[in-house]
Amino acid sequence: MTDRVPLAGVIGDPVGHSKSPVLHGHWLSRYGIRGYYVPLHVTQDNLATVLKALPNMGFRGVNVTIPHKEQALALADSVTDRAALIGAANTLTFTSSGKLQADNTDGVGFIANIRQSIPDWAPSEGPVLVLGAGGASRAIVSALLGEGVPRVILANRTRARAEALRDHLGARVELLDWTRLPSALPEVHTVVNTTSLGMKGSQPLNIDLSGIRPGTIVTDIVYTPLITDFLARADELGARTVDGLGMLLHQAAPGFERWFGHKPEVDEALRRAVLSA
Ligand code: ATR
Repeated sequence: MTDRVPLAGVIGDPVGHSKSPVLHGHWLSRYGIRGYYVPLHVTQDNLATVLKALPNMGFRGVNVTIPHKEQALALADSVTDRAALIGAANTLTFTSSGKLQADNTDGVGFIANIRQSIPDWAPSEGPVLVLGAGGASRAIVSALLGEGVPRVILANRTRARAEALRDHLGARVELLDWTRLPSALPEVHTVVNTTSLGMKGSQPLNIDLSGIRPGTIVTDIVYTPLITDFLARADELGARTVDGLGMLLHQAAPGFERWFGHKPEVDEALRRAVLSA
């Protein structure tokens, strides 16, 4: 397998919108690696067959995106602890014997983005407010707890979904009614939007931010637009804001290193390449 041109890709349905081919392509050319990273449009019915065939074709691994993240986990031969905790996989690696190893790097990507933007971020300093209880929230809340955040205050429009997440991740997750969100702002040092609100084409995230303390770290996983209205309003109130593009870039790094053997850098040149694609 070692004399083969290394291949990797992203499997999704649809997959045309994925930025992953551009960002991995940037790293491949930057480090002079003779390899390819391609978009693979695969339906759910075909996922298992495709994953069995890919290692025979020279693929070292793949990213998986909507709607395959849960099924990919179920199909894996081995699963990392963090992927099992999150209940979904985004990074699959084929071992030399063709076995499928599943990981989830969304949470570490989220943390790496905050740490790169705010080097003095101190997770253990106090509670963090998280908006949303979907798949992205699951990865982010478990990563925050892993970093030593003492308490995560979780608010979701559908309370039952937030309850399910708390039941899964434990007692350091505390629920707050979506309508009472602003009441938590004065006591938290970090606020995270994990919902799709504010994304180009969807509704805005209209919460009253006036209770926020200056210096609070506010981050959004939405990166289209790069500066969401939520981040812009937080910035006006003296918050330190972190956009969501960095999470996308950082979650890609562990896969690239595993498949192509080079630890890639997340820097301004990569951001520019992805933004201009
Ligand atoms: P992902 O896997 O990207 O997190 P998801 O699982 O569909 O996507 O989750 C989307 C999140 O955005 C959920 O927290 C969702 O809230 P519900 O659980 O109540 O659906 C939240 N969301 C989407 N549209 C919303 C809206 N109009 N108001 C409030 N929250 C919304």
